[in-house]
Amino acid sequence: MDPDDHVCLCFRVSLRKIRTYLHRENPAVASLISECLSAGTGCQWCVPFLKHLHAQHQRGEEPDLKISPQQYADSRVTYRRTGERPPGDGADAGSA
Ligand code: FES
Repeated sequence: MDPDDHVCLCFRVSLRKIRTYLHRENPAVASLISECLSAGTGCQWCVPFLKHLHAQHQRGEEPDLKISPQQYADSRVTYRRTGERPPGDGADAGSA
Protein backbone atom coordinates (compact mmCIF):
# COMPACT_ATOMS: atom_id res chain seq x y z
CA MET A 1 0.00 0.00 0.00
CA ASP A 2 1.02 3.57 -0.58
CA PRO A 3 0.72 6.10 2.26
CA ASP A 4 -2.36 7.72 0.74
CA ASP A 5 -4.23 4.42 0.30
CA HIS A 6 -7.02 3.88 2.76
CA VAL A 7 -6.66 1.22 5.43
CA CYS A 8 -10.07 1.90 6.95
CA LEU A 9 -12.35 2.05 3.96
CA CYS A 10 -15.45 2.86 6.02
CA PHE A 11 -13.99 6.11 7.34
CA ARG A 12 -11.41 6.76 4.60
CA VAL A 13 -8.44 6.67 6.98
CA SER A 14 -5.18 6.46 5.07
CA LEU A 15 -2.07 4.52 5.96
CA ARG A 16 -0.32 7.89 6.33
CA LYS A 17 -2.82 9.07 8.94
CA ILE A 18 -2.48 5.84 10.90
CA ARG A 19 1.32 6.03 10.77
CA THR A 20 1.18 9.62 12.03
CA TYR A 21 -1.20 8.65 14.83
CA LEU A 22 1.01 5.73 15.91
CA HIS A 23 4.11 7.92 15.87
CA ARG A 24 2.49 10.81 17.73
CA GLU A 25 0.38 8.95 20.30
CA ASN A 26 2.26 5.64 20.65
CA PRO A 27 -0.95 3.88 21.78
CA ALA A 28 -0.56 1.00 24.22
CA VAL A 29 -3.14 -1.17 22.44
CA ALA A 30 -4.28 -1.39 18.83
CA SER A 31 -7.90 -0.61 19.69
CA LEU A 32 -6.88 2.97 20.52
CA ILE A 33 -6.31 3.53 16.80
CA SER A 34 -10.08 4.08 16.73
CA GLU A 35 -9.26 7.54 18.09
CA CYS A 36 -7.77 8.25 14.68
CA LEU A 37 -10.88 9.30 12.73
CA SER A 38 -12.86 6.29 14.05
CA ALA A 39 -10.69 3.79 12.17
CA GLY A 40 -11.93 0.25 12.69
CA THR A 41 -15.31 1.13 14.16
CA GLY A 42 -17.43 0.47 11.07
CA CYS A 43 -17.62 -2.90 9.34
CA GLN A 44 -14.58 -4.20 11.30
CA TRP A 45 -12.84 -5.38 8.13
CA CYS A 46 -9.70 -3.40 8.82
CA VAL A 47 -9.31 -4.38 12.49
CA PRO A 48 -6.77 -7.22 11.91
CA PHE A 49 -4.80 -4.88 9.66
CA LEU A 50 -4.83 -2.15 12.30
CA LYS A 51 -3.54 -4.71 14.81
CA HIS A 52 -0.79 -5.66 12.38
CA LEU A 53 0.22 -2.02 11.89
CA HIS A 54 0.24 -1.50 15.65
CA ALA A 55 2.44 -4.58 16.16
CA GLN A 56 4.89 -3.34 13.55
CA HIS A 57 5.03 0.03 15.29
CA GLN A 58 5.63 -1.67 18.64
CA ARG A 59 8.59 -3.54 17.11
CA GLY A 60 10.06 -0.30 15.84
CA GLU A 61 9.25 -1.10 12.20
CA GLU A 62 7.60 1.22 9.70
CA PRO A 63 3.92 0.21 9.67
CA ASP A 64 3.02 -1.11 6.23
CA LEU A 65 0.68 -3.54 4.51
CA LYS A 66 1.99 -5.73 1.70
CA ILE A 67 -1.26 -5.89 -0.19
CA SER A 68 -2.47 -3.92 -3.19
CA PRO A 69 -5.33 -1.48 -2.57
CA GLN A 70 -7.40 -3.35 -5.16
CA GLN A 71 -6.87 -6.73 -3.51
CA TYR A 72 -7.60 -5.17 -0.14
CA ALA A 73 -10.87 -3.64 -1.35
CA ASP A 74 -11.89 -6.83 -3.17
CA SER A 75 -11.30 -8.89 -0.02
CA ARG A 76 -13.46 -6.48 1.95
CA VAL A 77 -16.30 -6.99 -0.53
CA THR A 78 -16.09 -10.73 0.09
CA TYR A 79 -15.97 -10.14 3.84
CA ARG A 80 -19.03 -7.92 3.77
CA ARG A 81 -20.95 -10.39 1.62
CA THR A 82 -20.07 -13.58 3.49
CA GLY A 83 -18.80 -12.42 6.88
CA GLU A 84 -15.68 -14.50 6.26
CA ARG A 85 -12.17 -13.42 5.53
CA PRO A 86 -10.57 -14.94 2.43
CA PRO A 87 -7.78 -17.42 3.25
CA GLY A 88 -4.42 -15.70 3.46
CA ASP A 89 -5.92 -12.31 4.19
CA GLY A 90 -6.53 -10.69 7.50
CA ALA A 91 -3.72 -10.20 9.95
CA ASP A 92 -1.10 -12.03 7.88
CA ALA A 93 -1.68 -9.91 4.80
CA GLY A 94 0.79 -7.40 6.08
CA SER A 95 3.60 -9.84 6.72
CA ALA A 96 4.04 -11.22 3.20
S1 FES B 1 -12.92 -0.80 6.75
FE1 FES B 1 -12.44 -0.04 8.73
S2 FES B 1 -14.25 -0.33 9.86
FE2 FES B 1 -14.82 -0.89 7.82
